[in-house]
Order: sequence, then C-alpha cells, then structure tokens
Amino acid sequence: MLPGDILKVDCFLNHLLDVSFLMEMGKEIARLYQSESVNKILTIESSGIPIAFAAAQHMNVPVVFAKKNKSGNISDDVYSSRISSFTRKNVYDAVVSKDFLGKNDRVLIIDDFLAKGNALNGLIDIINQAGATLCGCAIAIEKGFQGGGDVLREHGIRVDSLAIIDSMTENSLTFRK
Ligand code: G4P
Repeated sequence: MLPGDILKVDCFLNHLLDVSFLMEMGKEIARLYQSESVNKILTIESSGIPIAFAAAQHMNVPVVFAKKNKSGNISDDVYSSRISSFTRKNVYDAVVSKDFLGKNDRVLIIDDFLAKGNALNGLIDIINQAGATLCGCAIAIEKGFQGGGDVLREHGIRVDSLAIIDSMTENSLTFRK
C-alpha cells in the first residue's frame, strides 16, 4: 500500500507485466462476456492496454485504446471526453479516432483499476458519442470502498471486477466475497 489509498501492483500489472497471469485474467474476462457478441474492446492508455490485449487474444477482437491528449487541441476527427483523475489529481481529455468506433460496434470496456469511476465514465461518454453499444466493463482491480463501481451498477451498467477490495489498511486487504 502507498499513501493515498494506492495499491502497488507494479510487480505484475503496472510496470513489470506477468504475462501468464495477464493471459489468465484475459481468459476469465473472455469467459464472462462470451455470449455478448462483443466485437471491440475499448481501454485507455497506459495500464489498461495489457489486460485488454490479453482478453482480446481470447475473444478474437481488436482493441482500441483511448489516448490521453495533453495538447488541448481537439480535432473534429475524434470523440473526446474530459476526465478528472481522483487518484492522480490531474485532468485530461481522452480521445478516440472516429475511424475506430461507430454505431455498429458492441463494446467491452477494460481497465486495470476502478476507483471513483471517472475514467470509465469518460469511456462510456465516448461510446455514447459514437452511437455504439456498451456491453459492460471488465476491471482487474476495483477499489470498492471508493464507490465508482457500485454507482455504475446502480445505473444498470454491467461491471465485472476480477477482484474487489472493500477495505485497505497498511497491513491488510479485505476482498468482497
Ligand atoms: P477512476 O477513473 O476510477 O476515478 O480512478 P482514478 O482517476 O482515481 O485513477 C486514475 C489513475 O490512477 C489510473 O491510472 C488508475 O489506474 C490509477 N490508480 C487508481 N487507483 C490505483 C491504485 O490503487 N493503485 C495503482 N497502482 N494505480 C491506481 P492512469 O492515470 O490512467 O495511468 P496509467 O497508470 O494507466 O498510465
């Protein structure tokens, strides 16, 4: 644990990539969404990409990753949504080219962490701008005590997290059963 309710997982997910473990995580996400006719995965750079890639390999669909635009210039060729990061205390525009998302897409969002849900809300906004269909959101680690996942579920959005942490102290983690 790091200060600010940050769980350090750079030994398998955020810095060093444990490829076998990531592939297993991708396999489980593919199993959960096997009957949803997903044809595209949407994630956001950077740490969402490896797990999205792993799931995509099992689902045989492409991955689109939203880019974090720091220039402030948004062109007409992209969908964009402003995201305010609770954990990192910054604001950025997530952008996706209009060439890669459209109304015929059935989209699964994948990300590494779910805290307050700001990144997911931005990606959902982009899916709505594209007129695409959201099948659900699959997350590696949800920090349940930060509430974002439960708010999305209350709004009828399917959210599947491989692990949900209900509380975190310096010495212990409690997982939701
Ligand atoms: P939210 O979207 O659910 O509201 O989450 P939040 O803004 O708080 O998260 C912003 C960034 O912080 C994300 O990375 C997310 O992966 C990361 N993050 C959130 N909680 C944790 C945590 O407990 N541990 C770790 N290691 N990371 C956490 P990002 O800014 O998009 O950057 P990147 O790492 O994906 O490049």
